[in-house]
Amino acid sequence: MRVLVTGGAGFIGRHLAQSLLEAGDDVAVIDNFRRSVRSAVHPAARFFEGDIRDPAALTASIRGCDTVYHLAAQSNVIGAIEDVDYSFTTNVGGTLELLKAATTAGVRRVVFASSREVYGEQQILPVSETARTSPKNLYGASKVAGEAYCRAWGRGNGPECAIVRLTNVYGTGDSNRVIPLWLGQATNGQDLVVYGGQQVIDFVPVATAVRAIQSAAVADLDGPVNVGSGRGTPLLVLAERIRAMAGGRVSTVIEPAREAEVVRFVADVTRMRSVLSIEPPSDPLCLLPELWEASRSRRTAA
Ligand SMILES: NC(=O)c1ccc[n+]([C@@H]2O[C@H](COP(=O)([O-])OP(=O)(O)OC[C@H]3O[C@@H](n4cnc5c(N)ncnc54)[C@H](O)[C@@H]3O)[C@@H](O)[C@H]2O)c1
Repeated sequence: MRVLVTGGAGFIGRHLAQSLLEAGDDVAVIDNFRRSVRSAVHPAARFFEGDIRDPAALTASIRGCDTVYHLAAQSNVIGAIEDVDYSFTTNVGGTLELLKAATTAGVRRVVFASSREVYGEQQILPVSETARTSPKNLYGASKVAGEAYCRAWGRGNGPECAIVRLTNVYGTGDSNRVIPLWLGQATNGQDLVVYGGQQVIDFVPVATAVRAIQSAAVADLDGPVNVGSGRGTPLLVLAERIRAMAGGRVSTVIEPAREAEVVRFVADVTRMRSVLSIEPPSDPLCLLPELWEASRSRRTAA
């Protein structure tokens, strides 16, 4: 199958590209290196350096593709607040451009990488796909808008749109999110800073997320699907596990909570299991020891 991964040089995108290539797909990648580097592009992928807001760049990269995995985005909460216009033009405007280009190119299905941030702060956990979307921040708002365009577009003559709502994905190659930040800090003997300390997060290993995203390209879907582990990890428990791996040499420092952040989220993954046939790992933090060793090796090599 010929496929396009937008944002394919990013954290999840490069794992996805690798997995698709292993499955025998002909993979094209478009990325503008906003949050990635050229060396992250898989050497076997057909690479198009470009911006998804640029119709000409999209047209070139999407030609002949059957499926598009749409991952390119301003991909985190704080970034979306720091650069409001970029988040809007990429996450909403770029998604519209992608849908237009996909229609012209005769793409069969677009898989849209949405986020658990569309739900905001929900009272009842775990949160199922039937919960009302109520984003707490501009990143979540941009994903709600992206989803709405995908859904409405899918009812017309364009491609079918499959929406996956990812929780907090982690694994090799991620940066600037809590797990890679804390592993790096603990490796360097720095204390771990927790904003607030009440957070409960649904962490999911990147391999699980990638399998779910691939499954969404072929599954019989009738609405969005949560992709997570279905288990909540208190952030203070995560800090404890990292502190233990560091031999207790670092402390946890609690700073005031950041207003834009959702405090507690756990996904109901019933639909992920039944519709995508994906089973999450029993320990959502199962990758931590491997990531810790990699972080230590990098420090030794530096
Ligand atoms: N990582 C997570 O925990 C998580 C959770 C929920 C949803 N998501 C969504 O999944 C997708 C992938 O996330 P990720 O963690 O790999 O993010 P990432 O930031 O690592 O990757 C996004 C990629 O998109 C590229 N990009 C950004 N703007 C672009 C533009 N205008 N044109 C072309 N390329 C552009 C970046 O350079 C980057 O390589 C994103 O849509 C994100 O919002 C991620």
